[in-house]
Formats: sequence, C-alpha cells, structure tokens
Amino acid sequence: MSISVAVPKETNAGELRVALVPETVTRLAKLGIKVLVEEGAGVGASYSDQAYQDAGATLISDVRSLYQQADLVCKVQPPSYDEAGLLKSSSVLVTMLHSHRHPKLVLRLQDQNITTFAMELIPRITRAQSMDVLSSQATVAGYKGVLIAAELSHRFFPMLTTAAGTIRPAKVLILGAGVAGLQAIATARRLGAIVEAYDVRRATREQVESLGAKFLQVEMDAESEGGYARELTDEEKQHEQALLWRSVGEADVVVTTAQIPGREAPRLITTPMVDDMKAGAVIVDLAAESGGNCELTVPGEPVQHKGVTIYGPLNLFSSLAIHASDMYSRNIYSFIGVLGQEDNSLTFNWEDEILAGSVVTHNGEIKNQGVRELLERGES
Ligand code: NAI
Repeated sequence: MSISVAVPKETNAGELRVALVPETVTRLAKLGIKVLVEEGAGVGASYSDQAYQDAGATLISDVRSLYQQADLVCKVQPPSYDEAGLLKSSSVLVTMLHSHRHPKLVLRLQDQNITTFAMELIPRITRAQSMDVLSSQATVAGYKGVLIAAELSHRFFPMLTTAAGTIRPAKVLILGAGVAGLQAIATARRLGAIVEAYDVRRATREQVESLGAKFLQVEMDAESEGGYARELTDEEKQHEQALLWRSVGEADVVVTTAQIPGREAPRLITTPMVDDMKAGAVIVDLAAESGGNCELTVPGEPVQHKGVTIYGPLNLFSSLAIHASDMYSRNIYSFIGVLGQEDNSLTFNWEDEILAGSVVTHNGEIKNQGVRELLERGES
C-alpha cells in the first residue's frame, strides 16, 4: 500500500488545463505512488485517457469514488463548494486557491479537516523555484499576450525588405517587466519588433536590456518586500504617467503586465493617453483579471476606441493548455517531493518554510495568518 494521488477533471467554465500530465504520472508511479485520474481529465490539454493509462494511472469514471479514495487531490482551479464536499476528512488538497476570492470554500475546507496547500503562496525562494506556479503560468501569459497583440495588429512585427519596398519593424512597448513582461519582451523580439520596456523596480533594467530591449529610464525605485513592487505615491503616479505618455503614443503595440500583490493592478494608461495613440495601435492588457492597467479595458472583451484596439484577455493559460499543464504538473511534482510519507499517510514538516508558507487549512484550523485576517474582516 502507498498513498493515492487523485486528479479530477477541472470543472470551471473554459478551464482546459489539468493538474498532472502523463509524464508526471510516470514519475510518481516510479516512487510507488498510486495515481487515480478521472476519465477525460486531460482531454482539454490534449492528453487522452489512454495516455494516462499507459503512464500507469488508474482511470475512474465516478468522481465521488475518485475523491473518496484520494489521500492527496491535485487541482488547477479551486474546487467548487460542492466539490469540496467530496473530499474525505484528513485528505490533502493542492491547488491554486486564491482564498480572498473564495472565503466560503476556505471555511468548508477548514470544517472538513482538509489540509490545503495554495500553490500561489509558495515562497519565492531559490529552493522553491521548481514549484513556482506564478512564474510558470506568467510565462504562458507573456508569450501568448504578444501573439494575441500580433494577431490584432494590422502591422508586421519584423522589418521586411521586399520588392514592394521596406517595411519598418513594429514598435512594441511592454509595461511591467516581471516574469510575464520579460517573456513578452523575448517573444516580441523573436518576432522582430523594436521593443521598449518599463518597470518601477530599477533592478529589472539589466534583465530588460539583456533581452535586447530598451529600458525606459525612471527616477524612482519602488521595489519593496520580497522583491515585489509597492503601490506608488500620487506624486510618483503623476511622474510615471508623464514618462509613459510619449512612449505609449509612439508605440504600435503595448502589452501591459503590471501587478501589485494583493491589490488592484496599477492604472498606467489613461483614456487621454489612448486618445493620443496612433490609429491602428493595439493594447493587450494582461492585468485585466485584477482590474487592468488601462482605464478602457473591459475584461475579456475587445474594445475599440478612436481607432485603437484594447483587449484584456482572461484565462490565457487555457489557450496554451498543453504547455501550461506540463509546467504546472512539474511544479506540483516538485511540491509533492517536500511532503513526507509514513505508514501510508502524508506527513508535514512545519519547519519547512515551503509548507509553512503555503498551508491554508490544517487540523480544522486556518493556518495562514493573512487568510485568517481576511476572513475575520469578512472580506470576499
Ligand atoms: P508581478 O506579476 O507581481 O508584477 C509584474 C510586474 O509589474 C513586476 O515586475 C512589478 O515590478 C511591475 N509593476 C508593479 N507596479 C508597476 C507600475 N506602477 N509600473 C510599472 N510596473 C509595475 O511580478 P512577478 O513577475 O510575479 O515578479 C515579482 C518578483 O518576484 C520579482 O522581483 C521577481 O524577480 C521575483 N521572482 C522570484 C522568483 C524566485 O526566486 N523563485 C521567481 C519569479 C519571480
């Protein structure tokens, strides 16, 4: 006997990713871990039931039975309130939880004595890089965001010398140079565009320049705790807008990726700035899910404004479901490696900052202080 790991089919509308792919199932099976997969769980990411069976998984058609047999359930999206009711007491759930959006779910997980780990809360320390879902999924967003911008743009990205004359390369501006922004820069460069980028963390300058893009000079440095950006003061915001106005106006394509953890995304592009853009310009706003970096963004809907297209796509990860799942699955595999096992059950070393940082519920308690405070304040 050994522990059983279960992979249910994702039920959120439009979610095509799967938590574990067959490659990972093979690796877990080699460790003596039994993997149970709900029939059809991988179909959205182009992984057939047969591929899972070949990798050593047991397919299960009844989702209740899947949950009841599982010691550890791996998911991409948090379970629905009803799905959470299927988890057996004392089992372990590993998923991207985003507790602040699902307070009732967190309380149910607590009541049912589930040990829940939120993958997005894993500390971003060197030892946990292989488990960093924020990075793996942001890579997908940055890459796909530029391809969408290229698709919406009526211009070539590369310089072309043709019998019909020479075409100038597109000017692409990337706002926010974290993981998504750096991948967006690299992708736009591969397509041959001239790329400029900007971030409030001065440390990103070197990374931007190493990818062959020009860094827009800023006088401030808003790097704070954990390497993240802090919210700017009103004076800094004004300074930022003045700096960006000209570059936004000159760009053929703008891809925005700026985020501040736990807050609404910063507003970087105002309506008057869009008014001053070239006709045919495109803005792809990758911060749409947290409020958007552009004032005119309507999440999930393309908007036309005086000849400029503004689009804030949602769940881009599912549009690259194969590789997004592959990377997520490897992140989960690494995470499972820090869980212990004794007498056919999972054990937790709470001295380990990876487990201590990512646990949300355990033993009928809410372990994460931030989540506890959020629930006490009654925020949703
Ligand atoms: P994020 O998704 O939270 O934000 C994206 C970018 O927006 C950041 O670079 C941020 O500085 C920028 N931003 C925020 N406000 C802005 C504004 N007003 N104007 C322009 N840009 C603005 O960031 P991400 O990609 O999650 O990275 C955050 C930090 O985590 C970075 O320091 C990165 O180096 C670090 N990190 C560490 C890892 C590790 O050691 N395991 C792995 C990945 C990232």
